[in-house]
Amino acid sequence: MKDKIGQLKSQFEKSAAEVKTLSDLEQLEMGFLGRKNGLLTLAMKDLKSLPKEEIPAAGQLINEVKNFVIAKIEEIKSKITGGESISSFDYSLPGSNQPNGHLHLVTHAIEEIASIFTKIGFVRERYPEVDWDYYAFETLNMPGDHPARDEWETFFIDGEPIKMHLADSSLKLTDKGKRILTPHTSNGQVREMEKKKLPIRMMNISKTYRRQSDASHAPMFHQFEGLVVDKGINITHLKGTIEYFVKNFFGEDREIRLRPHHFQFTEPSFEVDISCGFCHGKGIVDGQKCKICKDGWLELAGAGMVHPNVLKAGGIDPKIYSGFAFGWGVERCYLMKSGLNIDDIRLLYKNDLRFLEQF
Ligand code: PHE
Repeated sequence: MKDKIGQLKSQFEKSAAEVKTLSDLEQLEMGFLGRKNGLLTLAMKDLKSLPKEEIPAAGQLINEVKNFVIAKIEEIKSKITGGESISSFDYSLPGSNQPNGHLHLVTHAIEEIASIFTKIGFVRERYPEVDWDYYAFETLNMPGDHPARDEWETFFIDGEPIKMHLADSSLKLTDKGKRILTPHTSNGQVREMEKKKLPIRMMNISKTYRRQSDASHAPMFHQFEGLVVDKGINITHLKGTIEYFVKNFFGEDREIRLRPHHFQFTEPSFEVDISCGFCHGKGIVDGQKCKICKDGWLELAGAGMVHPNVLKAGGIDPKIYSGFAFGWGVERCYLMKSGLNIDDIRLLYKNDLRFLEQF
């Protein structure tokens, strides 16, 4: 019996060495461990025919060989399947999807704003985000060290000012001043006028930078700037355009009002307010002062009629043409629209997926 079992073992080893595929392996397993006719199973059954005193030793020997066979089969199996246990793979399970990304919420807002304005004929343009002092201040009626410049807490770029050709009348080389990170999208106004294509209906959406960082200010944010220049443009066009935008972006029930304000590059200038969506412009909710707004209104942004000096700087005759402009913060509009109570605007740019995935 001992010899017979020894033979079985070497027979197994010989066949095991020839196994190449999983189906070879399956056959081998059946041949030795199969419940009915497996060679080791049969040997176990044969034990009965042995004299009683030989049975325990022979039984133990068969079990040893059996364990050896089981271990060897597992070893070969994992070699063939590259270490993965095929028995744990369930082909009927649905596949695991790659996580789907989505656009950043500010990108969404930009696309929505752009599509609202392009419907009424605005053309989207992009102007440099690192630009000359000349376009961000000088041509916007803020020459030299004009104190109004302080409102735009500007980042300046180191380096010598560069002399360049001006696109307006003369060919003389003119100093465009220092380079800056654009603190507002109004730098696009004179750049657009310099193209000499009238009338103008421009939408400049771009990154803007200011030297400020707190819960309600990020040092980098976005603005969208509208500029319209044509013959006979007046305040009613400005008001109608803003109203159209507000109703499309914030909702039909929202109202606007223009409050007098001051900008060097528009005259007259306005601050635009929209009626509060929370108290519906009443300023009172359940007998209490509305927590969201001031007396039913929310401050949105600046606008005005393009100052004649700005038109002149862009080579346009203010006696023939007039225009209006507005420049608003994308993030501010988006947060107001969505009612999102984000307690720190800088969260938008932390790139923390746990935050961004919620939108
Ligand atoms: N550029 C101004 C700002 O950043 C906004 C503005 C744009 C005002 C155009 C009037 C006209 O605050």
